[in-house]
Amino acid sequence: MNDRLELVGGVAVITGAASGIGLALARQALARRMRLVLADIDAGTLQSARRQLRAGDDEVLLQAVDVSRDAEVQRLADAAYARFGGVQLLCNNAGVGFARLAAEHSAADWEWVLGVNLYGVAHGIRHFLPRMQAAGLPSHVLNTASAAGLVSLPGMAAYNASKQAVVALSETLRAELLAAASPVGVSVLCPAWVPTAIDSSERARPARHGRAAEPSAGSAIYAQVLQQAVRAGRLDADAVAGIAFDAVERRQFYILPHPKIAQALAQRVSAIVDSATPRPATEDSPRP
Ligand SMILES: NC(=O)c1ccc[n+]([C@@H]2O[C@H](COP(=O)([O-])OP(=O)(O)OC[C@H]3O[C@@H](n4cnc5c(N)ncnc54)[C@H](O)[C@@H]3O)[C@@H](O)[C@H]2O)c1
Repeated sequence: MNDRLELVGGVAVITGAASGIGLALARQALARRMRLVLADIDAGTLQSARRQLRAGDDEVLLQAVDVSRDAEVQRLADAAYARFGGVQLLCNNAGVGFARLAAEHSAADWEWVLGVNLYGVAHGIRHFLPRMQAAGLPSHVLNTASAAGLVSLPGMAAYNASKQAVVALSETLRAELLAAASPVGVSVLCPAWVPTAIDSSERARPARHGRAAEPSAGSAIYAQVLQQAVRAGRLDADAVAGIAFDAVERRQFYILPHPKIAQALAQRVSAIVDSATPRPATEDSPRP
């Protein structure tokens, strides 16, 4: 499919829409006069996001959702279809950051990070895609992975694993949709560092996972690296969201807003192909 995807006037569902890249995706959607279904675990911040967007009542549905919970994502899909009758763009964007040594990730840490970053995307696909396909109209799924989905920075084991799984899930889905000649397309967004609130993701950690243990000195260094790198990110969320929307409209699959990531990925792939010793990624081979 090489023709442009027409989003103007359609309906966009965006998870993690209260902040950062999700809120910026909402601004892009609104600029295309799309109606919005904005979902986030943080209902209060979602209300402020809606005020910032200045969208009218008939244009927006807000839904408090924990995307790691299958039943909540099903309710989101039910609510979106009940309100607007269709979805042209599903942005599986909600995600959490987590930095510490791999051996210091607890079972609860793994469940939280994989639950939001990977299962959240899987639940979105399960509950929206069949309805999008049944509509038989051109539409699209945009999964927010990360540059961490392509190269592995030390200190972020669960995050890297979750994002590499989102890339794999997106690639698999793309092959299936092509084989079925589906009108639904898919893209995977892999930004490096972007200044957002991701370095304070603990705020969105549900009580059932408990609080993260105090990091050891070795782990604390990685948390600092994450914080500094996020804050120093050169492309802001609006720039990343603009690049993502342009790419979706062109039906581009891989979206790498930071060109340096392609170099880091090429090094990784050539090390794999040559069975060479991998060079560790650094925070300057940017990410998460
Ligand atoms: N900021 C970066 O440097 C960067 C880089 C690459 C990829 N990403 C990815 O971009 C996406 C958006 O992150 P961001 O940087 O805008 O961070 P952010 O913290 O500003 O926004 C993330 C949003 O997700 C919400 N959220 C968290 N857990 C949730 C849950 N269980 N259910 C529903 N919503 C939940 C948060 O409340 C928040 O509003 C994430 O998937 C993240 O991994 C971010």
